[in-house]
Amino acid sequence: MAKRSLNNMRVVATGASSGIGYALVSRLLLSGANVLATARREERLEQLAKENEGAPGTLSILPGDLTSANHRAAIAAWCLEHWGAIDTLINNAGAGAIGPFADASSDRLRQVMEIDFFAPAELTRSCLPLLLGGNRPAILNIGSVLGHRAVPLKSEYCAAKFAMRGWSEAIRVELKRAGIDVLMVSPSTTRTEFFDSLLDTRTDSRSPSIGCMEPDAVARLAIASLVRSKRERILSLGGKLLVWSGRWFPSLTDAILTRSIAPKQSNDRG
Ligand SMILES: NC(=O)c1ccc[n+]([C@@H]2O[C@H](COP(=O)([O-])OP(=O)(O)OC[C@H]3O[C@@H](n4cnc5c(N)ncnc54)[C@H](OP(=O)(O)O)[C@@H]3O)[C@@H](O)[C@H]2O)c1
Repeated sequence: MAKRSLNNMRVVATGASSGIGYALVSRLLLSGANVLATARREERLEQLAKENEGAPGTLSILPGDLTSANHRAAIAAWCLEHWGAIDTLINNAGAGAIGPFADASSDRLRQVMEIDFFAPAELTRSCLPLLLGGNRPAILNIGSVLGHRAVPLKSEYCAAKFAMRGWSEAIRVELKRAGIDVLMVSPSTTRTEFFDSLLDTRTDSRSPSIGCMEPDAVARLAIASLVRSKRERILSLGGKLLVWSGRWFPSLTDAILTRSIAPKQSNDRG
């Protein structure tokens, strides 16, 4: 299939105020795309606009909370008014939580599901009529390796990313005849503000410093998937190994993961 051109592509990108989203939008603007960027922190979106002044693409910003139905409707309304259609919707915004399921409130589960699953699913629903009128339309979902193989202490986040992957797989087939591609990329740990913005933490949550992907590398691979219409891609070798070992050696993988948390838990009890 012919490559998708980014030049003049009308793109909605969520979670554009930091990390992977910030890098994605910067790259898209350099390639001549017209981007509507959203996130809650307006000053960060303004910084993104300032840093990309003079890029071939155009950037518009619409700050707001994606868990609000009003904000999702405002995004669709903006696109209808200014573009008449959407070519690509990038569902990137997300947040995590760390700590044992048994210690957490039901609020934590709901908050994680709201931003990591319900918000992208409902934003997609709001944008579908506009995607139908788009040029080679695509939905690009930013998942996670943890949506392929779950790990302990991130049960809510894993559940939300599994949900996103299952939903993506279903609508990929549903939307095929309408000509909308549903693509998904799954990064592994990436050096962003993700670990500083956890919704809740009941354990040591220092940002990992080694073996991380860089946000710009994730953005480059995600855009390559969009250009080449790759349906699903795990972005790192470590991520592929975890998924492979979980699929073929599930008990061994469980045992290794159990050992990785056991000392911490026994300290906690002690
Ligand atoms: N970092 C990792 O290790 C990693 C690994 C695999 C997958 N991912 C996924 O990659 C995506 C991007 O994360 P990141 O690593 O770039 O983290 P990040 O730097 O913390 O960025 C998260 C983005 O989501 C936005 N966001 C969070 N809650 C929101 C809400 N309620 N409404 C609107 N926007 C909201 C944040 O903006 P505001 O705070 O300004 O609203 C921010 O722009 C997420 O889906 C994440 O699950 C990350």
